Amino acid sequence: MSRKKIVPSILSADLTRLAQEVEAAEKGGADWLHVDVMDGHFAPTITIGPLIVSALRKTTKLPLDVHLMIENPDRYIEQFSEAGADIITVPVEACTHLHRTVHFIKDRGCQVGVCLNPATPLSLLDCILPDLDLVILLMVNPGFKGQKLDPALLAKIRALRKLINEGGLQANIEADGGISLDNISQVAGAGADIFVAGTAVFSSKDYGETISKLRNLAESA
Ligand code: DX5
Ligand code: ZN
Repeated sequence: MSRKKIVPSILSADLTRLAQEVEAAEKGGADWLHVDVMDGHFAPTITIGPLIVSALRKTTKLPLDVHLMIENPDRYIEQFSEAGADIITVPVEACTHLHRTVHFIKDRGCQVGVCLNPATPLSLLDCILPDLDLVILLMVNPGFKGQKLDPALLAKIRALRKLINEGGLQANIEADGGISLDNISQVAGAGADIFVAGTAVFSSKDYGETISKLRNLAESA
């Protein structure tokens, strides 16, 4: 992937004006839109589902980066791909048959990612990493926007970057949770190529200015 991608998470947007927020993020130069789906079981919060994804599909041309933080994701992949998801990422901790799930997503024509909670070791990816378009490394515990990134997890990004480079693999690394203007250079320096920025973007005055600052910092790291 040539350019580092800045991907605002709508969980941090003003949900009373979602269409306008998405339009502003798109106009501001966002590369994708990150959609955090939580069920109140895998992650402690209940957020949104396929209905909102299909509404988003009608409001933006941006690729929809759907981050499933739910139990039994197999049950909903069809609905999210039908709703217009471009990338679907599943939590490794919730997938009993991960190879089958990953290929089910690919067969739907979506890019496929696997997400790891902070304490989940990279070794769980050993047999599936070659099949992935994306790995989301959570820099916070799943469930909430506006948390602080745990700098100890930069080592996990470095280790995954090494695995991907040494294996000549195609997967991109998406860092998710607590990304800000203060830490994005270190996160990019550790080897991430895609940066979820929820609070950093949607709590700022000028989304376009923030997105380009984030991207410049990531690209010059
Ligand atoms: C956490 C979510 C993240 C979070 C990002 O469970 O997966 O995507 O919403 O929001 P910020 O950038 O505010 O940490
Ligand atoms: Zn997320």
